[in-house]
Amino acid sequence: MTLNDEMREKLVQLAIHARHWAYVPYSHYAVGAALLTASDKIYDGVNIENAAYPVTVCAERTAVFKAVSEGERDFKAIAVVTDNGGAPCGSCRQVLAEFGLDTVVLIADAEGNIQQETTVKELLPGAFTPKFLGK
Ligand code: THU
Repeated sequence: MTLNDEMREKLVQLAIHARHWAYVPYSHYAVGAALLTASDKIYDGVNIENAAYPVTVCAERTAVFKAVSEGERDFKAIAVVTDNGGAPCGSCRQVLAEFGLDTVVLIADAEGNIQQETTVKELLPGAFTPKFLGK
């Protein structure tokens, strides 16, 4: 799937905006995500930290869980925005892989510069997917 420039910009801007809602009292590293569904809806997400550190949920997973909890399971793309163009963590790659290896991943910085445009397949080669469970 190729995204047009308008959609790239829209997703990145929505992720930038969402970042303001990140709950990051410990790391101060705000992350925003914007997930485009196959039905052309967009779900944003932020990282939500916790005093029990490992309970923290990343922005990407927040966006995916919001979408899935509303019945969306097919995704075209996700934009992820951090201060410095940080890449999605392994757990988020795995959660994205559950719903499709071809989802486009835009990695951008806080100014909206896209540092990398890739796919879940490229970010998680050899992923463990539902097919191994016969799904
Ligand atoms: N974080 C994300 O939200 N997404 C990622 O893919 C990488 C890490 C968050 C988790 C934590 O709140 C902060 O960034 C620092 O690790």
